Amino acid sequence: MRIISISNNKGGVGKTTTTVNLAAAMQILGKKVMVMDMDHQAQSTYHFGINPNKVTESIFDVLKGEKRYHEIIIKRAGIDILPANAELRNIEFLPLPAKEFLLKENMEDLEGYDYVLIDCPPSLGVLTLNAMAISEYILVPLQAQFLPFHGMYNLFEAVQMVKKRINRNIEVSGIIGTMYNPKKSISREVMEETEKRLPGKLYSTMIRENVALQEAPSWGKTIFEYKPDSNGADDYMALTEEVIKRFEE
Ligand SMILES: Nc1ncnc2c1ncn2[C@@H]1O[C@H](COP(=O)(O)OP(=O)(O)OP(=O)(O)O)[C@@H](O)[C@H]1O
Ligand SMILES: [Mg+2]
Repeated sequence: MRIISISNNKGGVGKTTTTVNLAAAMQILGKKVMVMDMDHQAQSTYHFGINPNKVTESIFDVLKGEKRYHEIIIKRAGIDILPANAELRNIEFLPLPAKEFLLKENMEDLEGYDYVLIDCPPSLGVLTLNAMAISEYILVPLQAQFLPFHGMYNLFEAVQMVKKRINRNIEVSGIIGTMYNPKKSISREVMEETEKRLPGKLYSTMIRENVALQEAPSWGKTIFEYKPDSNGADDYMALTEEVIKRFEE
């Protein structure tokens, strides 16, 4: 089993799109996959066609210790989803010590999955720390649209701190270029600069800008259900093959 946080403290870089479609491609390739939605915006829950407003038992109940993982699973597209809803925001107000270790309880329930993917919120707050406390790996989506290195350093610094204080076994396993436009020089520059500064981390598959990827969430479908013949589907399948190869070789 591999537990992977999909994280970047910058918003709107493709974390949710990557979590959902990576999970879907892994499932198509025969892997047993769980997706954990750790964002109170509940966008990966929504992307799988689950209305967060109707979710009565969410990952927040697991964090509170009132439910175990397997009690809140919703099955969709062959994937086990641990849904979120807006309640997740209330983690700030839970009167508990050591709030970054709440997901760590009952982790034996996660055995049996090939991959557990965690969609993190765009911050380095307590929800992200919970995700990082149980992850071995972090995948960082990076929007190939402008030079974002300042934010990236915050993330890498945070990972170093997590390594020291919360989870010694975590590492950034790779960076995924998203919203890539081969016609724009900025897209190429961002990727060249990433390779220069963080050699060997960037996956060679870039996720191109693709309207179908943008449309699929409102239909509650993964890209493979919504438009299996799109560039988005091709790119996420190629990326997933590369990710699996890197993890399983
Ligand atoms: N390759 C792509 N091409 C076109 N649009 C994309 C692509 N990837 C993501 N998008 C769109 O960009 C927006 C942001 O993507 P997404 O929600 O995946 O980012 P995020 O990092 O999860 O955001 P947040 O930080 O708010 O959680 C969404 O509207 C999504 O549909
Ligand atoms: Mg998101």
